[in-house]
Amino acid sequence: MSEEPLVNPEVAAMVGDWRGYVEAKLGFRNHWYPVRFSKELDEGAIEVIQLLGERLLLKRIDGKVYAMRDRCLHRGVPLSRKPDCYTKDTITCWYHGYTYRFQTGELVNILAVPDSRLCGRRKIVTYPCEEAKGLIFVFLGDEDKVHELKKDVPPGFLDEDLMVLGKHRVVESNWRMGAENGFDTLHIFIHKDSTLRHFREFNFPLGHTPLPGAVTRVEDEDGPKGVEDDFSKHHPVWDGEIDGQVVIRGPKLDKVKGTSASVGTSIWLPGVLKVNSFPMPGITQFEWYVPLDEKRHLYVQTLGQVCTTEQERVDFANKFETHWKPHGLDGFNGDDIWAREVTEPFYADDYGWVDEMLCEPDTTILEWRRLASDHGRGIQTKQDLR
Ligand code: FES
Ligand SMILES: [Fe+2]
Repeated sequence: MSEEPLVNPEVAAMVGDWRGYVEAKLGFRNHWYPVRFSKELDEGAIEVIQLLGERLLLKRIDGKVYAMRDRCLHRGVPLSRKPDCYTKDTITCWYHGYTYRFQTGELVNILAVPDSRLCGRRKIVTYPCEEAKGLIFVFLGDEDKVHELKKDVPPGFLDEDLMVLGKHRVVESNWRMGAENGFDTLHIFIHKDSTLRHFREFNFPLGHTPLPGAVTRVEDEDGPKGVEDDFSKHHPVWDGEIDGQVVIRGPKLDKVKGTSASVGTSIWLPGVLKVNSFPMPGITQFEWYVPLDEKRHLYVQTLGQVCTTEQERVDFANKFETHWKPHGLDGFNGDDIWAREVTEPFYADDYGWVDEMLCEPDTTILEWRRLASDHGRGIQTKQDLR
């Protein structure tokens, strides 16, 4: 029996060369996604997470993190309802005793039926995990498609001396509302009242439009695939006018601060944004929009700064707590979060993808949609959740 498709096929057929992106409502399979910070998972602890519509169990055993489907093979119940771990590397279903090894997913015993023929012959789904820069990454995809983590993170993120700090929270919108809000050059407009501007060394315009040559694709065989937008090749707008009358003056009024030529954004598969020189020169913001299900994403916000001495690390950690977290990740990005949540209903039934009316600078967003369609390594479907 054929299943109801996840995305309206009529809409998918209308969008042309970014159809794959529209179909990826649950995200792209066969990519690495950050799911928690390493410090959030202690040795022996179990954490239940959601990723691309699948519910998974994470466990740290002898320092290493493992991820397993949170669904018993016997009758489909969540193991996490009452996790029974009689040995450190197994979990036993609370219902009838099916017991699985975390490292392999293998059904090693059925406590209530020790001589079952199934033992050693069946496996629950497991996914590879890796830790980098204080984050736990899970590869959600097929065994034969696993590739190096470096192909799924923005350039520079894994640099040796980069210290990374951050936070995460659940946002009530599809992951694509997150990705597009982040990469949207025009949306700087909503940040005009942000308190962050008091802590920065340069101004935000009200808006800016990419000039020819500003937006480029990065498609190297060996690295991540993304779209870069260079703000030094933009035309900024400082005053907002209606009928020829200035109604808003941009923060340009603060002439002591100039603009930073080094600002620019880039977006990478499977949905991670890099913002150069943000929230100030010397710091880079990296943020992921990790699909949880069709309607929610995990917003993983991180800031990276090169620190070569212990004193630099301490200073960055202090500044992160006193400045960048409250005014940047909470305050400034709080604007982004509510914008995504308010945008969500328009796209929820898929018709937003054809009913939207984009304008000139939104070509950057279209380039991202096309790139994602071209290079996404597989679309997560309802079938994959079975
Ligand atoms: S449902 Fe898990 S052992 Fe029966
Ligand atoms: Fe923003």
